[in-house]
Amino acid sequence: MEMEGQAIIVTGGASGIGKETVKQLAAKGASVVIADFNSEAAASLATEMDLADKVVSYKVDVSKAEEVEAMVHWTVEKFNTINGIFNNAGIGLVKPLLELDPASYHKVIDVDQHSVYYGIYYTAKKMVELGVKGTIVNTASIYGSIAALGSFNYNAAKAAVVMMTKSAALELSDYGIRSVGVAPGFIDTPILGDSDEAKEQLAQLHMRQQLIKPEQVANVVTFLFTDAANAVNGQTIPVDDGFLSFKTK
Ligand SMILES: NC(=O)c1ccc[n+]([C@@H]2O[C@H](COP(=O)([O-])OP(=O)(O)OC[C@H]3O[C@@H](n4cnc5c(N)ncnc54)[C@H](O)[C@@H]3O)[C@@H](O)[C@H]2O)c1
Repeated sequence: MEMEGQAIIVTGGASGIGKETVKQLAAKGASVVIADFNSEAAASLATEMDLADKVVSYKVDVSKAEEVEAMVHWTVEKFNTINGIFNNAGIGLVKPLLELDPASYHKVIDVDQHSVYYGIYYTAKKMVELGVKGTIVNTASIYGSIAALGSFNYNAAKAAVVMMTKSAALELSDYGIRSVGVAPGFIDTPILGDSDEAKEQLAQLHMRQQLIKPEQVANVVTFLFTDAANAVNGQTIPVDDGFLSFKTK
């Protein structure tokens, strides 16, 4: 199989976009670490997939540098290599700017932005040490290039992810490491909340008025990890049913 012998970490791998990516990478033969704060959900996904030692769960808080470093080391001990990371774990928190106290600001910046730096830094260092020409994929958002109301910190974090993706590509290309990203539109995952009415309103913002399924984002992420995407580097690919391409329909 195409990705046999490769070991990839998927952060936020227990749910939504991460979960579907775990399944697709494993289907291509990769060994996968389901890295998530929610260790119960991560463990039950590993059990459900039933691929013995090839798909394993790991509890991590990606907002903590030392935990991300330990996760990368653990992966190398477990699989004798590391070929990439999907920096995907994230949270949302909607609050108007005038109510955005420093603690609320930092909560999202720590999880959605700093985690991506930690993931890139520790994984790239290890891949360079091992001589692995791997791939880093980061989850940004449509709100990394345009602003959403009540999302000052989220918008800032996702814009940083877009630029970190480019900067890492520039710095790591000499080592044969690619850095790329995805910018999802509105994806039907738990992060959107429970309200069917709110989801329907978001769906209307897409060109074809439907929410995007998490597996549709995973399709693109999985492609980016493969050799078929070898010429894609530094870019963040929108997976947004055209959202960023039009103002009103
Ligand atoms: N769903 C959307 O509409 C949408 C749109 C654009 C971008 N995104 C981004 O996609 C990514 C994945 O989101 P999703 O929609 O699959 O949501 P989700 O809530 O289904 O999955 C997020 C996962 O991240 C994990 N997580 C959260 N904080 C963590 C931490 N500190 N350490 C480790 N794991 C942590 C959660 O436990 C969960 O399993 C996020 O970065 C999100 O910002 C989502």
